Amino acid sequence: MKVLVTGATGQLGWDVVKELERRGMDYRGTGSKDLDITDREAVMEYIWDYQPDAVIHCAAYTAVDKAEDEPEKCRDVNVNGTTYIAEACKVVDAKMIYISTDYVFGDDGDQPHEVDDPVHPLNVYGQTKWEGEEAVRRILQKYFIVRISWVFGEHGNNFVKTMLRLGQTHKEISVVADQFGAPTYTADLAPLLCDMMTTEKYGTYHACNSGCCSWAEFAEEIFRQAHMDVKVKYITTEEYPTKAVRPKNSRLNKTCLQENNFLDLERWQDALDANVYRNVGSKGAIQMAFKVIKAEELSWNPFLQIGKGWFLVTAGTKEKCNGMTVSWGGFGVWWGKNAATVYIRQNRCTKEFIDAGDRFTIAAMPESCRKALGYMGSHSGYDGDKWQSAGLTPMEVEGTAAPEEAEVILICRKLLAAELTEETFLDPAMKARWYSGGDEGNFHTMYIAEIERVLVKE
Ligand SMILES: NC(=O)c1ccc[n+]([C@@H]2O[C@H](COP(=O)([O-])OP(=O)(O)OC[C@H]3O[C@@H](n4cnc5c(N)ncnc54)[C@H](OP(=O)(O)O)[C@@H]3O)[C@@H](O)[C@H]2O)c1
Repeated sequence: MKVLVTGATGQLGWDVVKELERRGMDYRGTGSKDLDITDREAVMEYIWDYQPDAVIHCAAYTAVDKAEDEPEKCRDVNVNGTTYIAEACKVVDAKMIYISTDYVFGDDGDQPHEVDDPVHPLNVYGQTKWEGEEAVRRILQKYFIVRISWVFGEHGNNFVKTMLRLGQTHKEISVVADQFGAPTYTADLAPLLCDMMTTEKYGTYHACNSGCCSWAEFAEEIFRQAHMDVKVKYITTEEYPTKAVRPKNSRLNKTCLQENNFLDLERWQDALDANVYRNVGSKGAIQMAFKVIKAEELSWNPFLQIGKGWFLVTAGTKEKCNGMTVSWGGFGVWWGKNAATVYIRQNRCTKEFIDAGDRFTIAAMPESCRKALGYMGSHSGYDGDKWQSAGLTPMEVEGTAAPEEAEVILICRKLLAAELTEETFLDPAMKARWYSGGDEGNFHTMYIAEIERVLVKE
């Protein structure tokens, strides 16, 4: 399948291209310099030459306030440009995915908008995006119109980046608290669009991350996740006048996704989590060598990984931390959270560090570190700087520490610490085998910890 992505230099197009690349698909991504969509002839020629099977049309005039001053320019891109793309799709019989917006709706009510609710754009941008939708419906049968809202991603500018930037210099920020909707994380949306285009389930869809919030609540969550001490002052739309009027109700009903068996997008807070980490890392010490993945994406066999491979458990700070190898433990779900268990004997130096903080890390190390791990596993932190002697480098992550050399790092937040005692053993053989001789009474403490983040070396 050949896919053309317009707006590939923008926030969403960037991630769509990444997703197509990941899927090993034949694609082309264009920005305005490669293909100006307001040039009908150029659009026809480009699409005729490439003969795509699908066009994911992310290009748009997106400067919502500026559009009020230059409506014709905005219309040229969002209506004419979209019309030309649709016409060209018709000629080569390509499917088209047109990205639209919550701004086609007005202020009406506080319920999520259904896909076929009456539209009532309040600004030029919303009006032109709606006219773009209508052009697609008029020209094509094989189309998907996907309305999204409050877009954020790693590439380009967005609300998340603005808040993180302002948060560096402001102790308090005023944010509108009476406009409600849901953020859409481009890295979550891109796979959905790529799935969609392989089907014939044409029609109009709503697709944003799950849940609902106001801009002020969105801002608060950004600061909370970035560990930034910034107060968000709730203000009304009227207290923050903008050139373009924005709808107060941007809630989008997504049942159309479920009805057609498409995967829904995760909670907006979870989507933000991955994005904030990517933006700010750990208080400036960003670990660009690592990317964030979901715990569900780990392809480990826990029996092999824990029993046969070696993990390094580390706690403390970059300056003062300790790490120890572990080959007992577990991964699973506790209290509805992805979690890990580790077991640490009472006499271990690392236990002091784990007990002193909220978090610790579990790191899977590459084969090349086997010797270093051998050293970490056979020497105590009480006897000197194990890191230096082992040739490993601790780095700061999320207020705790992990080895720079790791392949995978699980950042874990403690939920429970339970000491094993004589009475807890049901099989006396276990106690006799593991807690006798020099280890008499040296019982383990079991820690259950939420896996807050999974970092994988890129
Ligand atoms: N951002 C939001 O909050 C939001 C909310 C709801 C819906 N949407 C919709 O989601 C889609 C993606 O938005 P986004 O935030 O990713 O947009 P964006 O980051 O502003 O990027 C816009 C893209 O459109 C391209 N473009 C603009 N004028 C063009 C022209 N004349 N010819 C060809 N390309 C042109 C730009 O190319 P160059 O950079 O190369 O000029 C850029 O790649 C758009 O359809 C938008 O309407 C966005």
